[in-house]
Amino acid sequence: MGETPAVALRGVTKTFPSAGGAIDVLHDVDLIIAPGQKASLIGPSGSGKSTLLSLIAGLLRPDCGTVTVGGVELARLGDTDRARLRADHIGIALQSENLIPFLSARENIELALGFAGSIKHEPARERADALLERFGLSHRADHKPRHLSGGEAQRVALAVAMANEPALLLADEVVAALDDETAGHVVDQVLDAPFAVLYVTHDPALADRVEHRFQLRNHRIEPR
Ligand SMILES: Nc1ncnc2c1ncn2[C@@H]1O[C@H](COP(=O)(O)OP(=O)(O)OP(=O)(O)O)[C@@H](O)[C@H]1O
Ligand SMILES: [Mg+2]
Repeated sequence: MGETPAVALRGVTKTFPSAGGAIDVLHDVDLIIAPGQKASLIGPSGSGKSTLLSLIAGLLRPDCGTVTVGGVELARLGDTDRARLRADHIGIALQSENLIPFLSARENIELALGFAGSIKHEPARERADALLERFGLSHRADHKPRHLSGGEAQRVALAVAMANEPALLLADEVVAALDDETAGHVVDQVLDAPFAVLYVTHDPALADRVEHRFQLRNHRIEPR
């Protein structure tokens, strides 16, 4: 028996209802990511990359097929257990970053640490500051999100997603607003981490930094 994958999608199909008829987004998609594996996903705008991440995060349900995270099939869980699995196992940094507007950068990370119910290492503040330093943001720790640049806010969102050392990090174009040098440094930090990572990017050079490369084409995931 092999080890339990960090993520397994089998036969996943997803459509969205719309006035003009159903929109087919994903059709019979299979995907497996091993524990600790780093994978990139590339594909045209509107091809379904963000939809795929939302399905893995349990924020959307597939029409058919199964989504399994750490060996647990999401459809078998109730809302509370699914939310708990997400909090405990999955870090999510989405395209539209979701920081709490009235908390500072540091407090946003501390809040994420509190949510997991246990702090695995240092006290929350030290861990938050260490993450900010890794992303080159020590000097912005006390800034509220509206006083951060777009790229700084994205990096804080990534620090929030990584705060609890999730088993799986889902990152949706989180370095899109960064210059090449900063983006390279941020990706270094992410690829250095022990957890499995699936990151979406429009930049082929960034996608090529990992061995496991996927593309979304014609509603399916293919290796590239
Ligand atoms: N909640 C929804 N209701 C209806 N249609 C949706 C919904 N969410 C996404 N779509 C449609 O599904 C398709 C895939 O969207 P998705 O956001 O997954 O694309 P994407 O590959 O992430 O694109 P981008 O690179 O622009 O971020 C698009 O055509 C989009 O309009
Ligand atoms: Mg998207």
